Amino acid sequence: MNSHRFHQSVLVGEVAQYLVHDPDGTYVDGTVGTGGHSEVIGSGLSPNGKLICLDRDPDAVRTSKKRLAFMGERVRVVKANYVALKDVLAEQACDAVNGVFLDLGMSSYQLEFSGRGFSFTRNEPLDMRMDPDEESTASELVNHAAPSELFKILKDFGEEKRAKLIVRAISNARRKSAIVTSSQLAALVKSAFPQAHRARRRHPATRTFQALRIAVNKELQNLQTFLDTIPLMIATGGRLVILSYHSLEDRLVKQTMMNWENPCTCPPEFLHCVCGKPPLFKRLFKKGIKPTAAEIERNPRARSAVLRAAERI
Ligand SMILES: C[S@@+](CC[C@H](N)C(=O)[O-])C[C@H]1O[C@@H](n2cnc3c(N)ncnc32)[C@H](O)[C@@H]1O
Repeated sequence: MNSHRFHQSVLVGEVAQYLVHDPDGTYVDGTVGTGGHSEVIGSGLSPNGKLICLDRDPDAVRTSKKRLAFMGERVRVVKANYVALKDVLAEQACDAVNGVFLDLGMSSYQLEFSGRGFSFTRNEPLDMRMDPDEESTASELVNHAAPSELFKILKDFGEEKRAKLIVRAISNARRKSAIVTSSQLAALVKSAFPQAHRARRRHPATRTFQALRIAVNKELQNLQTFLDTIPLMIATGGRLVILSYHSLEDRLVKQTMMNWENPCTCPPEFLHCVCGKPPLFKRLFKKGIKPTAAEIERNPRARSAVLRAAERI
Protein backbone atom coordinates (compact mmCIF):
# COMPACT_ATOMS: atom_id res chain seq x y z
CA MET A 1 0.00 0.00 0.00
CA ASN A 2 1.24 3.49 -0.86
CA SER A 3 0.64 4.81 2.64
CA HIS A 4 1.63 8.37 1.78
CA ARG A 5 -1.51 8.66 -0.34
CA PHE A 6 -3.49 8.64 2.90
CA HIS A 7 -1.88 11.63 4.54
CA GLN A 8 -2.16 15.18 3.23
CA SER A 9 0.63 17.36 4.56
CA VAL A 10 -0.35 20.73 6.04
CA LEU A 11 0.99 24.19 5.05
CA VAL A 12 3.65 22.52 2.89
CA GLY A 13 4.65 25.60 0.86
CA GLU A 14 4.95 27.77 3.99
CA VAL A 15 7.03 25.15 5.84
CA ALA A 16 9.55 24.88 2.98
CA GLN A 17 9.62 28.66 2.51
CA TYR A 18 10.48 29.41 6.15
CA LEU A 19 12.78 26.44 6.70
CA VAL A 20 15.04 26.47 3.65
CA HIS A 21 17.06 29.69 3.53
CA ASP A 22 20.22 28.11 2.05
CA PRO A 23 19.69 25.39 -0.60
CA ASP A 24 23.22 24.05 0.05
CA GLY A 25 22.46 23.49 3.72
CA THR A 26 21.65 20.47 5.90
CA TYR A 27 18.10 20.21 7.22
CA VAL A 28 16.27 17.94 9.65
CA ASP A 29 12.69 16.72 9.46
CA GLY A 30 12.19 15.34 12.98
CA THR A 31 8.75 13.84 12.25
CA VAL A 32 9.02 12.67 8.64
CA GLY A 33 5.79 10.60 8.68
CA THR A 34 4.80 9.77 5.12
CA GLY A 35 7.42 12.20 3.78
CA GLY A 36 5.11 14.87 2.33
CA HIS A 37 6.92 17.88 3.78
CA SER A 38 10.33 16.30 3.23
CA GLU A 39 9.58 15.69 -0.44
CA VAL A 40 9.02 19.42 -0.94
CA ILE A 41 11.93 20.43 1.32
CA GLY A 42 14.25 17.99 -0.50
CA SER A 43 13.11 19.23 -3.93
CA GLY A 44 14.12 22.77 -2.96
CA LEU A 45 17.71 21.81 -2.05
CA SER A 46 20.72 22.03 -4.37
CA PRO A 47 22.83 18.93 -5.20
CA ASN A 48 24.91 19.88 -2.13
CA GLY A 49 21.92 20.16 0.21
CA LYS A 50 21.20 17.31 2.65
CA LEU A 51 18.18 16.12 4.58
CA ILE A 52 18.16 14.03 7.75
CA CYS A 53 14.76 12.55 8.59
CA LEU A 54 13.58 10.93 11.81
CA ASP A 55 10.42 9.16 12.89
CA ARG A 56 9.75 6.92 15.86
CA ASP A 57 7.31 4.80 13.83
CA PRO A 58 9.01 2.09 11.73
CA ASP A 59 6.15 2.17 9.16
CA ALA A 60 6.79 5.88 8.60
CA VAL A 61 10.50 5.23 8.12
CA ARG A 62 9.79 2.57 5.49
CA THR A 63 7.27 4.72 3.62
CA SER A 64 9.28 7.91 3.58
CA LYS A 65 12.50 6.12 2.57
CA LYS A 66 10.78 5.07 -0.66
CA ARG A 67 9.23 8.49 -1.24
CA LEU A 68 12.54 10.31 -0.69
CA ALA A 69 14.68 7.89 -2.71
CA PHE A 70 14.90 10.56 -5.44
CA MET A 71 17.44 12.34 -3.20
CA GLY A 72 19.86 9.39 -3.31
CA GLU A 73 22.75 9.70 -0.87
CA ARG A 74 21.69 13.19 0.19
CA VAL A 75 18.90 11.89 2.40
CA ARG A 76 19.10 9.75 5.57
CA VAL A 77 15.93 8.38 7.15
CA VAL A 78 16.33 6.90 10.62
CA LYS A 79 14.01 5.40 13.20
CA ALA A 80 14.52 7.65 16.18
CA ASN A 81 12.70 9.86 18.61
CA TYR A 82 13.38 13.51 17.87
CA VAL A 83 14.53 13.95 21.48
CA ALA A 84 17.58 11.90 20.43
CA LEU A 85 18.43 14.28 17.58
CA LYS A 86 21.83 15.14 19.05
CA ASP A 87 22.89 11.47 18.86
CA VAL A 88 21.50 11.11 15.32
CA LEU A 89 23.48 14.17 14.21
CA ALA A 90 26.62 12.82 15.89
CA GLU A 91 26.22 9.56 13.93
CA GLN A 92 26.03 11.63 10.72
CA ALA A 93 29.18 13.54 11.82
CA CYS A 94 27.19 16.74 11.96
CA ASP A 95 27.03 19.06 14.96
CA ALA A 96 24.83 21.92 13.78
CA VAL A 97 22.28 22.11 10.97
CA ASN A 98 20.66 24.90 8.95
CA GLY A 99 17.10 24.10 9.86
CA VAL A 100 14.92 21.76 11.88
CA PHE A 101 11.25 21.06 11.25
CA LEU A 102 8.67 19.28 13.42
CA ASP A 103 5.13 18.39 12.34
CA LEU A 104 3.62 17.30 15.66
CA GLY A 105 0.84 14.82 16.34
CA MET A 106 0.02 11.81 14.24
CA SER A 107 -0.42 11.06 10.55
CA SER A 108 -3.71 10.08 8.90
CA TYR A 109 -1.98 6.84 7.95
CA GLN A 110 -1.39 5.99 11.62
CA LEU A 111 -4.99 6.87 12.43
CA GLU A 112 -6.59 4.87 9.66
CA PHE A 113 -4.25 2.01 8.74
CA SER A 114 -1.70 1.29 11.46
CA GLY A 115 -3.98 -1.22 13.23
CA ARG A 116 -2.86 0.20 16.60
CA GLY A 117 -6.17 1.46 17.94
CA PHE A 118 -5.70 5.21 17.36
CA SER A 119 -9.19 5.56 15.91
CA PHE A 120 -12.49 5.16 17.76
CA THR A 121 -14.11 4.14 14.46
CA ARG A 122 -12.06 0.91 14.22
CA ASN A 123 -12.04 -2.28 16.18
CA GLU A 124 -8.34 -2.78 16.89
CA PRO A 125 -6.09 -3.64 19.83
CA LEU A 126 -5.92 -0.63 22.13
CA ASP A 127 -2.23 0.08 21.67
CA MET A 128 -1.68 3.69 20.46
CA ARG A 129 2.12 3.50 20.55
CA MET A 130 3.73 5.35 17.65
CA ASP A 131 6.89 3.37 18.39
CA PRO A 132 5.99 -0.30 18.99
CA ASP A 133 9.29 -0.70 20.89
CA GLU A 134 8.08 1.61 23.66
CA GLU A 135 6.78 -0.05 26.83
CA SER A 136 3.32 1.15 27.80
CA THR A 137 0.22 0.77 25.65
CA ALA A 138 -3.07 2.64 25.93
CA SER A 139 -4.67 -0.58 27.14
CA GLU A 140 -2.21 -0.78 30.06
CA LEU A 141 -2.96 2.81 30.95
CA VAL A 142 -6.75 2.42 30.73
CA ASN A 143 -6.75 -0.81 32.76
CA HIS A 144 -4.16 -0.04 35.42
CA ALA A 145 -3.77 3.72 35.92
CA ALA A 146 -5.31 5.20 39.06
CA PRO A 147 -8.65 6.91 38.34
CA SER A 148 -7.09 10.23 39.43
CA GLU A 149 -4.33 9.80 36.82
CA LEU A 150 -6.84 8.98 34.07
CA PHE A 151 -8.90 12.01 35.09
CA LYS A 152 -5.86 14.27 34.84
CA ILE A 153 -4.93 12.88 31.40
CA LEU A 154 -8.45 13.46 30.03
CA LYS A 155 -8.62 16.95 31.55
CA ASP A 156 -5.11 18.14 30.66
CA PHE A 157 -4.56 16.57 27.25
CA GLY A 158 -8.16 16.28 26.04
CA GLU A 159 -9.81 19.23 27.81
CA GLU A 160 -12.65 16.75 28.28
CA LYS A 161 -15.51 18.28 30.28
CA ARG A 162 -17.04 14.90 31.11
CA ALA A 163 -13.74 13.42 32.32
CA LYS A 164 -15.18 12.41 35.70
CA LEU A 165 -18.07 10.44 34.15
CA ILE A 166 -15.82 8.80 31.57
CA VAL A 167 -13.32 7.72 34.25
CA ARG A 168 -16.19 6.32 36.32
CA ALA A 169 -17.43 4.30 33.31
CA ILE A 170 -13.89 2.99 32.68
CA SER A 171 -13.34 2.11 36.35
CA ASN A 172 -16.64 0.19 36.57
CA ALA A 173 -16.02 -1.67 33.31
CA ARG A 174 -12.44 -2.69 34.03
CA ARG A 175 -13.46 -4.26 37.36
CA LYS A 176 -15.48 -6.78 35.32
CA SER A 177 -13.10 -7.36 32.39
CA ALA A 178 -10.08 -5.72 30.81
CA ILE A 179 -10.60 -3.05 28.12
CA VAL A 180 -8.50 -4.27 25.24
CA THR A 181 -9.91 -2.83 22.00
CA SER A 182 -10.55 0.64 20.60
CA SER A 183 -14.24 -0.23 20.01
CA GLN A 184 -14.71 -1.26 23.65
CA LEU A 185 -13.25 2.02 24.85
CA ALA A 186 -15.23 4.08 22.32
CA ALA A 187 -18.49 2.44 23.44
CA LEU A 188 -17.67 3.03 27.12
CA VAL A 189 -16.91 6.70 26.55
CA LYS A 190 -20.10 7.07 24.52
CA SER A 191 -22.10 5.59 27.41
CA ALA A 192 -20.91 8.46 29.64
CA PHE A 193 -22.63 11.02 27.38
CA PRO A 194 -26.34 11.84 27.33
CA GLN A 195 -28.31 10.61 24.31
CA ALA A 196 -28.57 14.12 22.75
CA HIS A 197 -24.78 14.45 22.75
CA ARG A 198 -24.26 11.12 21.03
CA ALA A 199 -25.92 12.32 17.82
CA ARG A 200 -23.49 15.26 17.40
CA ARG A 201 -21.06 15.41 14.48
CA ARG A 202 -17.98 15.00 16.69
CA HIS A 203 -17.78 11.51 18.20
CA PRO A 204 -17.93 11.66 22.03
CA ALA A 205 -14.68 9.68 22.23
CA THR A 206 -12.64 12.17 20.14
CA ARG A 207 -11.09 13.97 23.12
CA THR A 208 -10.51 10.80 25.15
CA PHE A 209 -8.63 9.13 22.30
CA GLN A 210 -6.55 12.25 21.69
CA ALA A 211 -5.68 12.54 25.39
CA LEU A 212 -4.65 8.89 25.71
CA ARG A 213 -2.51 9.08 22.57
CA ILE A 214 -0.70 12.15 23.92
CA ALA A 215 -0.11 10.40 27.27
CA VAL A 216 1.01 7.05 25.82
CA ASN A 217 3.51 8.73 23.49
CA LYS A 218 4.63 11.34 26.07
CA GLU A 219 4.11 13.94 23.38
CA LEU A 220 4.33 17.05 25.56
CA GLN A 221 7.32 15.79 27.56
CA ASN A 222 9.14 15.03 24.31
CA LEU A 223 8.40 18.48 22.91
CA GLN A 224 9.62 20.14 26.13
CA THR A 225 12.87 18.13 26.13
CA PHE A 226 13.39 18.92 22.45
CA LEU A 227 12.87 22.66 22.98
CA ASP A 228 15.29 22.63 25.94
CA THR A 229 18.09 21.15 23.86
CA ILE A 230 17.58 22.29 20.25
CA PRO A 231 19.18 25.79 20.27
CA LEU A 232 22.76 24.47 20.24
CA MET A 233 22.03 22.14 17.31
CA ILE A 234 21.01 24.96 14.95
CA ALA A 235 23.75 27.00 13.24
CA THR A 236 23.63 30.80 13.24
CA GLY A 237 21.01 31.94 10.73
CA GLY A 238 19.40 28.48 10.87
CA ARG A 239 15.66 28.03 11.31
CA LEU A 240 13.35 26.14 13.62
CA VAL A 241 9.88 25.56 12.15
CA ILE A 242 7.14 23.82 14.14
CA LEU A 243 3.62 22.87 13.13
CA SER A 244 1.33 22.01 16.05
CA TYR A 245 -2.28 20.87 16.29
CA HIS A 246 -3.00 21.13 20.00
CA SER A 247 -3.28 24.32 22.07
CA LEU A 248 -0.94 22.94 24.76
CA GLU A 249 1.77 22.19 22.20
CA ASP A 250 1.34 25.53 20.50
CA ARG A 251 1.50 27.38 23.83
CA LEU A 252 4.78 25.62 24.65
CA VAL A 253 6.29 26.47 21.27
CA LYS A 254 5.07 30.08 21.37
CA GLN A 255 6.29 30.73 24.95
CA THR A 256 9.67 29.13 24.27
CA MET A 257 10.23 31.14 21.09
CA MET A 258 9.25 34.34 22.93
CA ASN A 259 11.68 33.54 25.76
CA TRP A 260 14.46 32.83 23.28
CA GLU A 261 13.80 36.19 21.63
CA ASN A 262 13.65 38.08 24.91
CA PRO A 263 15.42 36.11 27.66
CA CYS A 264 16.09 39.20 29.84
CA THR A 265 15.12 38.53 33.46
CA CYS A 266 15.73 42.07 34.77
CA PRO A 267 12.85 43.64 36.74
CA PRO A 268 10.61 45.77 34.48
CA GLU A 269 11.56 48.97 36.35
CA PHE A 270 15.23 48.65 35.25
CA LEU A 271 16.01 51.10 32.45
CA HIS A 272 18.81 48.92 31.06
CA CYS A 273 19.37 45.18 31.03
CA VAL A 274 21.91 44.02 33.61
CA CYS A 275 21.29 40.25 33.42
CA GLY A 276 23.08 40.20 30.06
CA LYS A 277 21.22 37.13 28.76
CA PRO A 278 21.58 37.22 24.96
CA PRO A 279 18.65 36.39 22.67
CA LEU A 280 18.99 32.95 21.04
CA PHE A 281 16.41 33.26 18.26
CA LYS A 282 14.26 35.87 16.62
CA ARG A 283 10.76 34.94 15.53
CA LEU A 284 10.17 35.12 11.77
CA PHE A 285 6.59 36.27 12.43
CA LYS A 286 4.79 37.06 15.68
CA LYS A 287 1.39 35.51 15.07
CA GLY A 288 1.18 31.81 14.25
CA ILE A 289 0.22 31.05 10.64
CA LYS A 290 -2.99 29.09 10.10
CA PRO A 291 -4.13 27.23 6.99
CA THR A 292 -6.54 29.02 4.67
CA ALA A 293 -10.22 28.08 4.49
CA ALA A 294 -9.51 26.45 1.12
CA GLU A 295 -6.79 24.21 2.63
CA ILE A 296 -9.09 23.24 5.52
CA GLU A 297 -11.85 22.44 3.04
CA ARG A 298 -9.46 20.13 1.14
CA ASN A 299 -7.92 18.69 4.30
CA PRO A 300 -10.08 18.98 7.46
CA ARG A 301 -7.14 17.67 9.56
CA ALA A 302 -5.48 21.07 8.94
CA ARG A 303 -8.14 22.98 10.87
CA SER A 304 -6.28 23.14 14.19
CA ALA A 305 -2.79 23.63 12.73
CA VAL A 306 -0.58 26.55 13.78
CA LEU A 307 2.85 27.21 12.27
CA ARG A 308 5.63 29.03 14.13
CA ALA A 309 9.18 29.71 13.00
CA ALA A 310 12.28 31.33 14.46
CA GLU A 311 15.82 32.06 13.26
CA ARG A 312 18.94 31.33 15.31
CA ILE A 313 20.89 34.48 16.13
C1 LIG B 1 1.80 14.66 11.47
S1 LIG B 1 2.80 13.28 11.17
C2 LIG B 1 4.02 13.90 10.07
C3 LIG B 1 3.56 13.95 8.65
C4 LIG B 1 4.62 14.42 7.69
N1 LIG B 1 5.03 15.78 7.93
C5 LIG B 1 4.17 14.27 6.27
O1 LIG B 1 4.12 15.27 5.53
O2 LIG B 1 3.87 13.13 5.86
C6 LIG B 1 3.69 13.13 12.64
C7 LIG B 1 4.73 12.04 12.66
O3 LIG B 1 5.58 12.31 13.77
C8 LIG B 1 5.97 11.09 14.33
N2 LIG B 1 6.37 11.39 15.70
C9 LIG B 1 5.59 11.79 16.72
N3 LIG B 1 6.34 12.01 17.83
C10 LIG B 1 7.62 11.76 17.47
C11 LIG B 1 8.86 11.81 18.17
N4 LIG B 1 8.93 12.17 19.46
N5 LIG B 1 9.98 11.50 17.50
C12 LIG B 1 9.93 11.12 16.19
N6 LIG B 1 8.79 11.04 15.49
C13 LIG B 1 7.65 11.35 16.12
C14 LIG B 1 4.76 10.20 14.19
O4 LIG B 1 5.12 8.85 14.24
C15 LIG B 1 4.21 10.64 12.83
O5 LIG B 1 4.70 9.81 11.81
